[in-house]
Amino acid sequence: MKRTTLTAIALAMVTGPAMADPDADALVVNGEIEMVTEASAPAHLEGALKTVYSGWRFRSDETQAVQMDDFDNPGMLGVEVALDAWTEVAGTEGESCASCHGSPEEMAGVSATYPKWDAAAGEVQTLTMQMNECRTERMGAEPYAYDKGDAINMTALLTSVSRGMPMSVAIDGPAAETWEMGKELYYTRFGQLELSCANCHEDNYGMMIRADHLSQGQINGFPTYRLKNTKLNGVHSRFKGCIRDTRAETFAPGSPELIALELYVASRSNGLSVEGPSVRN
Ligand code: HEC
Ligand code: HEC
Repeated sequence: MKRTTLTAIALAMVTGPAMADPDADALVVNGEIEMVTEASAPAHLEGALKTVYSGWRFRSDETQAVQMDDFDNPGMLGVEVALDAWTEVAGTEGESCASCHGSPEEMAGVSATYPKWDAAAGEVQTLTMQMNECRTERMGAEPYAYDKGDAINMTALLTSVSRGMPMSVAIDGPAAETWEMGKELYYTRFGQLELSCANCHEDNYGMMIRADHLSQGQINGFPTYRLKNTKLNGVHSRFKGCIRDTRAETFAPGSPELIALELYVASRSNGLSVEGPSVRN
């Protein structure tokens, strides 16, 4: 598609006032967890972005407020459910997460490093894949369905104990190849609209798309409780939705493409605080 046509489509989608900047509010959860919602962009984004912003900064005051107190944040209900699952024996080996890992707080900092290269498996693993490796290989239990309730709730428990810690995903060494694949996908134009992730989240963040204030599409806040579908949402479901909005065939949650894209997008969030479970519209 010619650039002029692309520009026309992009302009057609942008309605209302162009708000170039995210707002300046500070995010402190429960009056104690101070979140970094704005940071110098990681070195690999040189020439693309100078500053990275959490999606929280682009939400309305009302939506922002819901994330500032765990009693108001409906995403914390998923954390509660996962707390029970953590100590529940499942599978043929008589094990629970707790029997090997102790309290969930022992996992503080872990989610900030995912997706991560797993030497034994010889692949980049998302947090969901790692949890499923524990379930199938160590517990004799069924894997969690990708991005569905049980997996998302457990992910929310693991991110909740890392809240406030900086995203620090490694992109070098054996992870580099997967990262390159994710980067390529990020800049690929999808669908009838021929729009890449970057066309919206890098070139046009701060603009309005329909009623939505467009963010940088960071994933430090996942899982996100969305007021729109009133449930916790996983990273891959969100990617899938964004790709579908370009009227493209999309990739399945847990597919190699979305795993690579997750690694790349997580690395764009490096330096921002882990916020999950966050609240978005
Ligand atoms: C029988 C013991 C055992 C059980 C039960 C178990 N795990 Fe694990 N888990 C391990 C071992 C060993 C590792 C390290 C293996 C590796 O790095 O690949 C690990 C690694 C992990 C990691 C990654 C830690 C890191 O630093 O990267 C996460 C997250 C995790 N487990 C979650 C869970 C969850 C959630 C459950 C329950 C559904 C669970 N595990 C059950 C033994 C267990
Ligand atoms: C047509 C424009 C458009 C394209 C193309 C697009 N998105 Fe989005 N995306 C949106 C809108 C609108 C939202 C909701 C408002 C927001 O959070 O930015 C959103 C939200 C997101 C979020 C949630 C951010 C948060 O803080 O909760 C992520 C992550 C995301 N997009 C990633 C992607 C990725 C990865 C791609 C490429 C596969 C992509 N998007 C392509 C428009 C787009």
